[in-house]
Formats: sequence, structure tokens, C-alpha cells
Amino acid sequence: MSIQIPRGTQDILPGEVEKWQYIEQKARELCERFQYHEIRTPIFEHTELFTRSVGETTDVVQKEMYTFEDRGGRSITLRPEGTASTVRSFVQHKMYGDPNQPVKLFYMGPMFRYERPQAGRFRQFVQFGVEALGSKDPAIDAEVIALAISIYHSLGLNKLKLVINSLGDKESRQAHRTALIQHFQPRIGEFCQDCQNRLEKNPMRILDCKQDRDHELMRTAPSIIDYLNDESKTYFDKVQQYLTDLGISFEVDPNLVRGLDYYNHTAFEIMSDAQGFGAITTLCGGGRYNGLTQEIGGPETPGIGFAFSIERFIAALEAENVELPINRNIDCYLVSLGEEAQDYTVKLLHQLRLAGFSAERDYLNRKIKAQMKAADRLNAKYVAILGEDELAANKINVKKMETGEQWEIDLENFITEFKDLN
Ligand code: HAM
Repeated sequence: MSIQIPRGTQDILPGEVEKWQYIEQKARELCERFQYHEIRTPIFEHTELFTRSVGETTDVVQKEMYTFEDRGGRSITLRPEGTASTVRSFVQHKMYGDPNQPVKLFYMGPMFRYERPQAGRFRQFVQFGVEALGSKDPAIDAEVIALAISIYHSLGLNKLKLVINSLGDKESRQAHRTALIQHFQPRIGEFCQDCQNRLEKNPMRILDCKQDRDHELMRTAPSIIDYLNDESKTYFDKVQQYLTDLGISFEVDPNLVRGLDYYNHTAFEIMSDAQGFGAITTLCGGGRYNGLTQEIGGPETPGIGFAFSIERFIAALEAENVELPINRNIDCYLVSLGEEAQDYTVKLLHQLRLAGFSAERDYLNRKIKAQMKAADRLNAKYVAILGEDELAANKINVKKMETGEQWEIDLENFITEFKDLN
């Protein structure tokens, strides 16, 4: 039996890959405008990085990591997300000492989570993410959210819903934690084993349990928003004010808790509102994580960021029927007839390419008609035909495909004149 791709992964073939490149390109352009700079970190890290940052009681760490021992006996994990690695790198390279603060980074690359594959949920997926480290100005929260929204808009996505919440600071979270324990404790026996373990360690994680989602205590659980202290409230108000100033509409959802442990203060998600979008509507998630750098061994540095997967981005484009303006075409297809002319086009093709044109020729010894068809399939702007007669007369016949116009050019002037055409 032939070997198939592992479950939850996909091949991105030519024809489809152009969409990916287009999205990546747009995201890069916007990062440049917003002044976020690319960082590339390894695909695997020491397991401890994720247990410490993402959190031991999260589904990601407990159930979804690709963890293995390497030949040196170290526990290694394929990164399930990009924030931990970015912050690790920030600390390791002492970027907190950089005179340009905050440090604004973006990344793009494959992430790995052993989840149950379904529409929009893969085991390997590509995240595009940004992290701004070194500022606790609520304006940067608004900037990060505005960047995400701008990327979506620049690619024609408009049916979006931005949901925000505040998870408060340490003090607010502590008060909320106590309230959650009081709320769940009397009936914790009705919950799954994971939730029972989470009650003391991290009761907030109970709120995003997939198994007990429909339990009545979930609906009546105390919401963090009622436990925010004044400082957290003021911070959250300011973020909302800035978003309003930027003309970004949003909803406050006090139940938005996010699935990773490092968050505090601002948390947000962008969902697709498009009809017919699959069950998993979250396109993008992010939030503030003051305290994470310390957890990883660096000095106290506030941070905020987001990430979205290209897979869900493409699903949203499809749901909104957005056609990306991708035109695959080539500048010139060389058609040749007869051995001598065929030989000649080997050199000519190379010269065209060196001159900066995308160009192709026949490699299957096809008849003229089949070569013309091949040129059509490649969407050639021009076809240059070199037959035995043309070669003998030192000419080449050029056809502009859009209009059907056809004329002859001296063979030795072909590249120069072709440049003038374009
Ligand atoms: P997250 O919510 O776990 O956050 O993931 C962010 C985004 O990654 C999701 O909204 C979704 O677009 C995509 N994603 C996650 N899992 C999958 C999957 N199995 N298949 C396809 N797409 C997926 C984080 O990862 C945080 N690091 C985001 C962040 C950055 N927070 C602060 N800075």
C-alpha cells in the first residue's frame, strides 16, 4: 500500500500555495507598516519551556504536545505555539536591553498540536503571530488588535467579530480564583477527572473544558469581569477607548478566557461571522502576558501578541467567497520546430530568464499545436515562435496572446526588443 500523509496534516500543492504566499506577503507588508520585525526560532524547544509558559494544566500541554526524548536523553517538544519561543529568544538575546523599546516581533511557521482533526483543526498548522514586548501602554494593546484586523481587511475579509475581555492582574485573578473554587467545589464530582484536578491547581481552566462545556455550573460561573480591581478596570477601559478611537468595533465577552495560562489583562479573539463557516469560528487569538518573561528567567517585561493560522484564514476567505487577485502567468513561451531551432531555444530561454522574465519552452518534443496549448495553459503573455524558416532568416516570430497581434523580430535583437515590450 502506498504511504499516505499523517492525519491532521496537509500538502499544499502548486495552484493552492499561491494563496498562502499572497497572505504571507500581505501580512509581512502590514508588519512592516506597523513596524514589527521578523524573528525565526527553532521548530522544537526544551519541553520545559511550554510546561512553564503555556501551563501544566492546559489541554495543549496535557494532551496535545508532540514530545519525545532525543538521542541525548533530553525532553524535546515540537512547538505548539509561537509566544513561548519568542519570549525565550527575547530573554536569551537580552532584547530587553535594546534601546528600541518596545521590541515588536512577528513570526510565521508550522506549529504542532495533537488534536482531533476536523475542519479548521490540524495537527500541523502554520501560525502567523506578533509579539510586542516591553510596554504596558494600553495603546499597544489597541495597536496589536488593529494590526490583526488590518491584515484581515487587506485581504478582503470583512465578516469578522472581535471579542475582547480582561483577565485582570494577579490580584484580580486571585479573587476570581477563590470565587471559582467556591462555585465548583460542592459539585466537582460531576465533572471530568481533568477538571477535578484543575480545581485547586487552576480553576479557570475548567471554564474552557471541552467535555463539561454544557454543565449548568458553567453558565453560572463567576466571571472575571466582576473581580477586576480598579487598576485592571482602568486599563481595560483605556484599551476599549483606543479601539473605539480607531473605529474598531468589538464586543466584550466576560466568558472569554483563552486556553493558555500566560494571559492577564487584555484577551481577545477574532471570529468569522460568515455564513457557512465551520463549527470552529475562531480565526485569531491573542492577549497580554505580563509576567511571562520572568517565568522564562528574564526581567519583568510586559508583553502582548496574537496568532492566527493560515489554514483558518483560507477557510474564512472561502466562506466569504473572496478571490485573491492571484494571476499565474508567464512572460514568454518559446515554441520551436525542428532540431536546430529547438537547440537554439535552449540558449534563448536562458537569456530571457537572465534578463528577468519568466519563461518556458517545450521539453516533450511536442508538435506546434500542442506547444501553443501548453503556452495557453501557462497563461503566456507572449509566445515566440522559432521554426526552421525563421532560424534560416535570423528572425523570430512574436505573438501577443491578448490581442493575437503577430510580428517578426531579428533574432539577435530579440531580448532587447522583448524588454521594450514589457
Ligand atoms: P491559540 O488561541 O492557541 O493562541 O492559537 C491562535 C490561533 O492559531 C487560533 O486562533 C487558530 O487560528 C490557530 N490554531 C490553533 N490551533 C490550531 C489547529 N489545531 N489547527 C489550525 N489552526 C489552529 C496561541 O497560540 C497564542 N500563542 C497566541 C498569542 C500570541 N498570544 C499572545 N501572543
